[in-house]
Amino acid sequence: MPDFYALARPLLRALPPESAHRLTLAAVAAGLGGRAATADPPILAQQVWGRDFPNPIWIAAGFDKDALVPDALLRLGFGFAEIGTVTPRQQPGNPTPRVFRLDEDGALINRLGFNSGGLDRVVARLERRRGRGGIVGVNIGRNRDSADAVADYAEGVRRTASLADYLVVNVSSPNTPGLRDLQARAVLEDLLRQLLAARSETGASPPLLVKIAPDLSPGECADIAAVALATGIDGIVVANTTLARPPGLRSPAKGEAGGLSGRPLFAPSTALLGDMYRLTEGRLPLIGVGGVASAADAYAKIRAGASLVQLYTALVFAGPALLGEIKSGLADLLRRDGFASVAEAVGADHVKLAAASDERDGVT
Ligand SMILES: Cc1cc2nc3c(=O)[nH]c(=O)nc-3n(C[C@H](O)[C@H](O)[C@H](O)COP(=O)(O)O)c2cc1C
Repeated sequence: MPDFYALARPLLRALPPESAHRLTLAAVAAGLGGRAATADPPILAQQVWGRDFPNPIWIAAGFDKDALVPDALLRLGFGFAEIGTVTPRQQPGNPTPRVFRLDEDGALINRLGFNSGGLDRVVARLERRRGRGGIVGVNIGRNRDSADAVADYAEGVRRTASLADYLVVNVSSPNTPGLRDLQARAVLEDLLRQLLAARSETGASPPLLVKIAPDLSPGECADIAAVALATGIDGIVVANTTLARPPGLRSPAKGEAGGLSGRPLFAPSTALLGDMYRLTEGRLPLIGVGGVASAADAYAKIRAGASLVQLYTALVFAGPALLGEIKSGLADLLRRDGFASVAEAVGADHVKLAAASDERDGVT
């Protein structure tokens, strides 16, 4: 891959984060991001929801909100790309500045507030790429000024179901007032049932996932797991950015309002992932996201219960070469521990924990 990022890095770092992001998107669209140098190691391939994933690593929502570069991202070597969050109507999001680098902490804080080009543009772009192959998901949200959140999500489902390989219902962005209240048990159950019905009406059946916040109480987690199993949705994305500010943050920007992502999110989001795996008894594919910056991090997410792994913030700091490093390192870690595939390693930590507790209890 021509290392555009290495050349452009000083410029990107000197620019405000959102300008750097726009330049990166333009460079990726122009093909400057390059192509994956080698085919993925076969050990990384797996089927999830009956679809073939060449590798489990994927760029998280928020990078390509308006479906500008999904095919260029796939060419870079991501196993799949997630578009969005897209809201039904175009909206500008919060006033700038609204993205902050926390260099010392390997983190970002953002309070973008669903800046979105709207469904019309995203749908038109996805229609143009129809039939091109590669797994592209769409992450849907609601407009800030909308009086009817459920209708907004239902519109997102109806208009993208036949164009998306999977859908993510984002009820966990911290930057749209009231959005996270949709995670409450009865509200979430009603929302998901209506969205499953909207999906059926389209005649298309992309897997429908819900993306949750890392700032949930144990009771809320249990409720969401119960709702996920009762409604029959297809998976859970764990997790969005956090409103928490873990002790030890060093960067001057740590006091900015918004959602924190990156390194400080790794431990809490991985613990939550493990909880959700236990609560859903390993019956639903989980997507692990939050603070992944290395092969070891991706492997830890898989062992905690993730079938697929997403990252965003670490790419801002390390550039696209990180993707190749994570994929080859992950293949090595799987082979080292005797796994024949990613699928075999999913939830492996729980098997180990169960065996240890059986041993303690004298179960043979
Ligand atoms: C600048 C930025 C914008 C984001 N926008 C979205 C979004 O539109 N929808 C969404 O579901 N998550 C969004 N996220 C959250 C990421 O998808 C991801 O859940 C979170 O950043 C944790 O992963 P990371 O630590 O690898 O960045 C955004 C994150 C960042 C940093």
